[in-house]
Amino acid sequence: MEFRTIFEPFRIHSVEPLRLTTEAQRRAAMQAAHYNVFSLHSRDVIIDLLTDSGTGAMSRDQWAAIQHGDESYAGSPSWDLFKAAVQDLFPFTHVVPTHQGRAAEKILFSLVGGPGRFIPNNTHFDTTRANIEFTGAVATDLVIDEGRDPASRHPFKGNMDPEKLEAFIAEHGRDNIPLIMLTVTNNSGGGQPVSMANMRAIREISRHHDIPLYLDACRFAENAWFIREREPEFADRDVADIVREMAALADGMTMSAKKDPLGNIGGWLAMNDDELAAQSRTMLVLTEGFPTYGGLAGRDLEALAVGLHEAVSHDYLRYRIRSTAYLADSLSESGIPVVQPPGGHAVYIDARAMLPHIPPLQYPGQALTVALYEVGGVRGCEIGTVMFGRQPDGSEVPAAMDLVRLAIPRRTYTQSHIDYVIEVCQRVASTSAALPGYRMTHEPPALRHFTAQFEPV
Ligand code: F0G
Repeated sequence: MEFRTIFEPFRIHSVEPLRLTTEAQRRAAMQAAHYNVFSLHSRDVIIDLLTDSGTGAMSRDQWAAIQHGDESYAGSPSWDLFKAAVQDLFPFTHVVPTHQGRAAEKILFSLVGGPGRFIPNNTHFDTTRANIEFTGAVATDLVIDEGRDPASRHPFKGNMDPEKLEAFIAEHGRDNIPLIMLTVTNNSGGGQPVSMANMRAIREISRHHDIPLYLDACRFAENAWFIREREPEFADRDVADIVREMAALADGMTMSAKKDPLGNIGGWLAMNDDELAAQSRTMLVLTEGFPTYGGLAGRDLEALAVGLHEAVSHDYLRYRIRSTAYLADSLSESGIPVVQPPGGHAVYIDARAMLPHIPPLQYPGQALTVALYEVGGVRGCEIGTVMFGRQPDGSEVPAAMDLVRLAIPRRTYTQSHIDYVIEVCQRVASTSAALPGYRMTHEPPALRHFTAQFEPV
């Protein structure tokens, strides 16, 4: 029988102090930051759940590997190790190393995007969409309907809808669709996984129309763990094998190594297409670096080679996914509405449901984000009307949902830190009726959520 306690499958070897602050200090810091958590100093944050990107803890073996970093401009052995580790899980012919995920997206879409091009995804991440739209191409989300319903308990809410994809290809024509993308797990849709059955179905369509299939594979290991847990065919399979099977269905991938590969920086673009690879390397040399290091130092390549190996450990993934579910389930049991079922890397609180007295155009997600910080020094991130409300025609409309994301950095916080986060959320919930809405006092023209300024209404 399994024990109930989820414990971290590691001992702590090096510690980073947390600076404890008082509520009065946090209220002053929040006011000075104009009620935008992106403007806070991280030293004023106690538990930082802003993102799971680049914020994980590296292992003893990763730090040791850093000492082996060979910083040769060309042909470094660190590159050979990195390339072998990538190809062990993702056996694509060509690997193009970049400094992070969006640099891989920039190269890929500069080459295959452009006006008149259409790129479908289950749900494009913001930087993917921005890199596509920057070239004049159109980015479209074709996730299944359940993926947009916070209460749906579908086990694979990240799946792409095959019928929507067929209709999309019929409408735009295969010649105008340079590739189909699948984001695993589907970050913008709540960190929800894509099933192997769905990947196979999308692969069938891609093969039938001769359109390449690419994975945005940032959270590939978490996705593979969900496949192992939820698709009976995979119950006894090794996660590394499941990842190889995912890769075998695709023609290429983009990667942010700041997520599942357990790096603080890094990424890559990989593919089987020789011609596209040659063009990508030319772009790489212009914007990132020589093809055997790209955007990275030799030491980063070493740390990632080890991180990729650790990322597919079953003990690690079991703990990782269970600990995210523990936070979601504890909040849910306290009556706090969260997106169900919990995803891999984050818990999403439904702020619109939690703060029904705040109209969407007074930003309930922002109100909750501010309160979590002021009450307990917990930094989450609004994903709602502040992020998506401003339309290209200048009007402002409520986003589909007003969520607050609590993203969990990998191997960084212990269960007692998470218990503290739960207590902070419960305390905020107990006085939620008194929380104010917000209005914007400064709004930048693009990506407004990063630098907007607010005041309470
Ligand atoms: N694709 C997905 C699915 C992502 O979640 C991210 C980053 C990227 C691409 C871009 O990678 O940051 O290395 O350039 N997501 C982070 C987040 C920033 O907080 O969810 P990057």
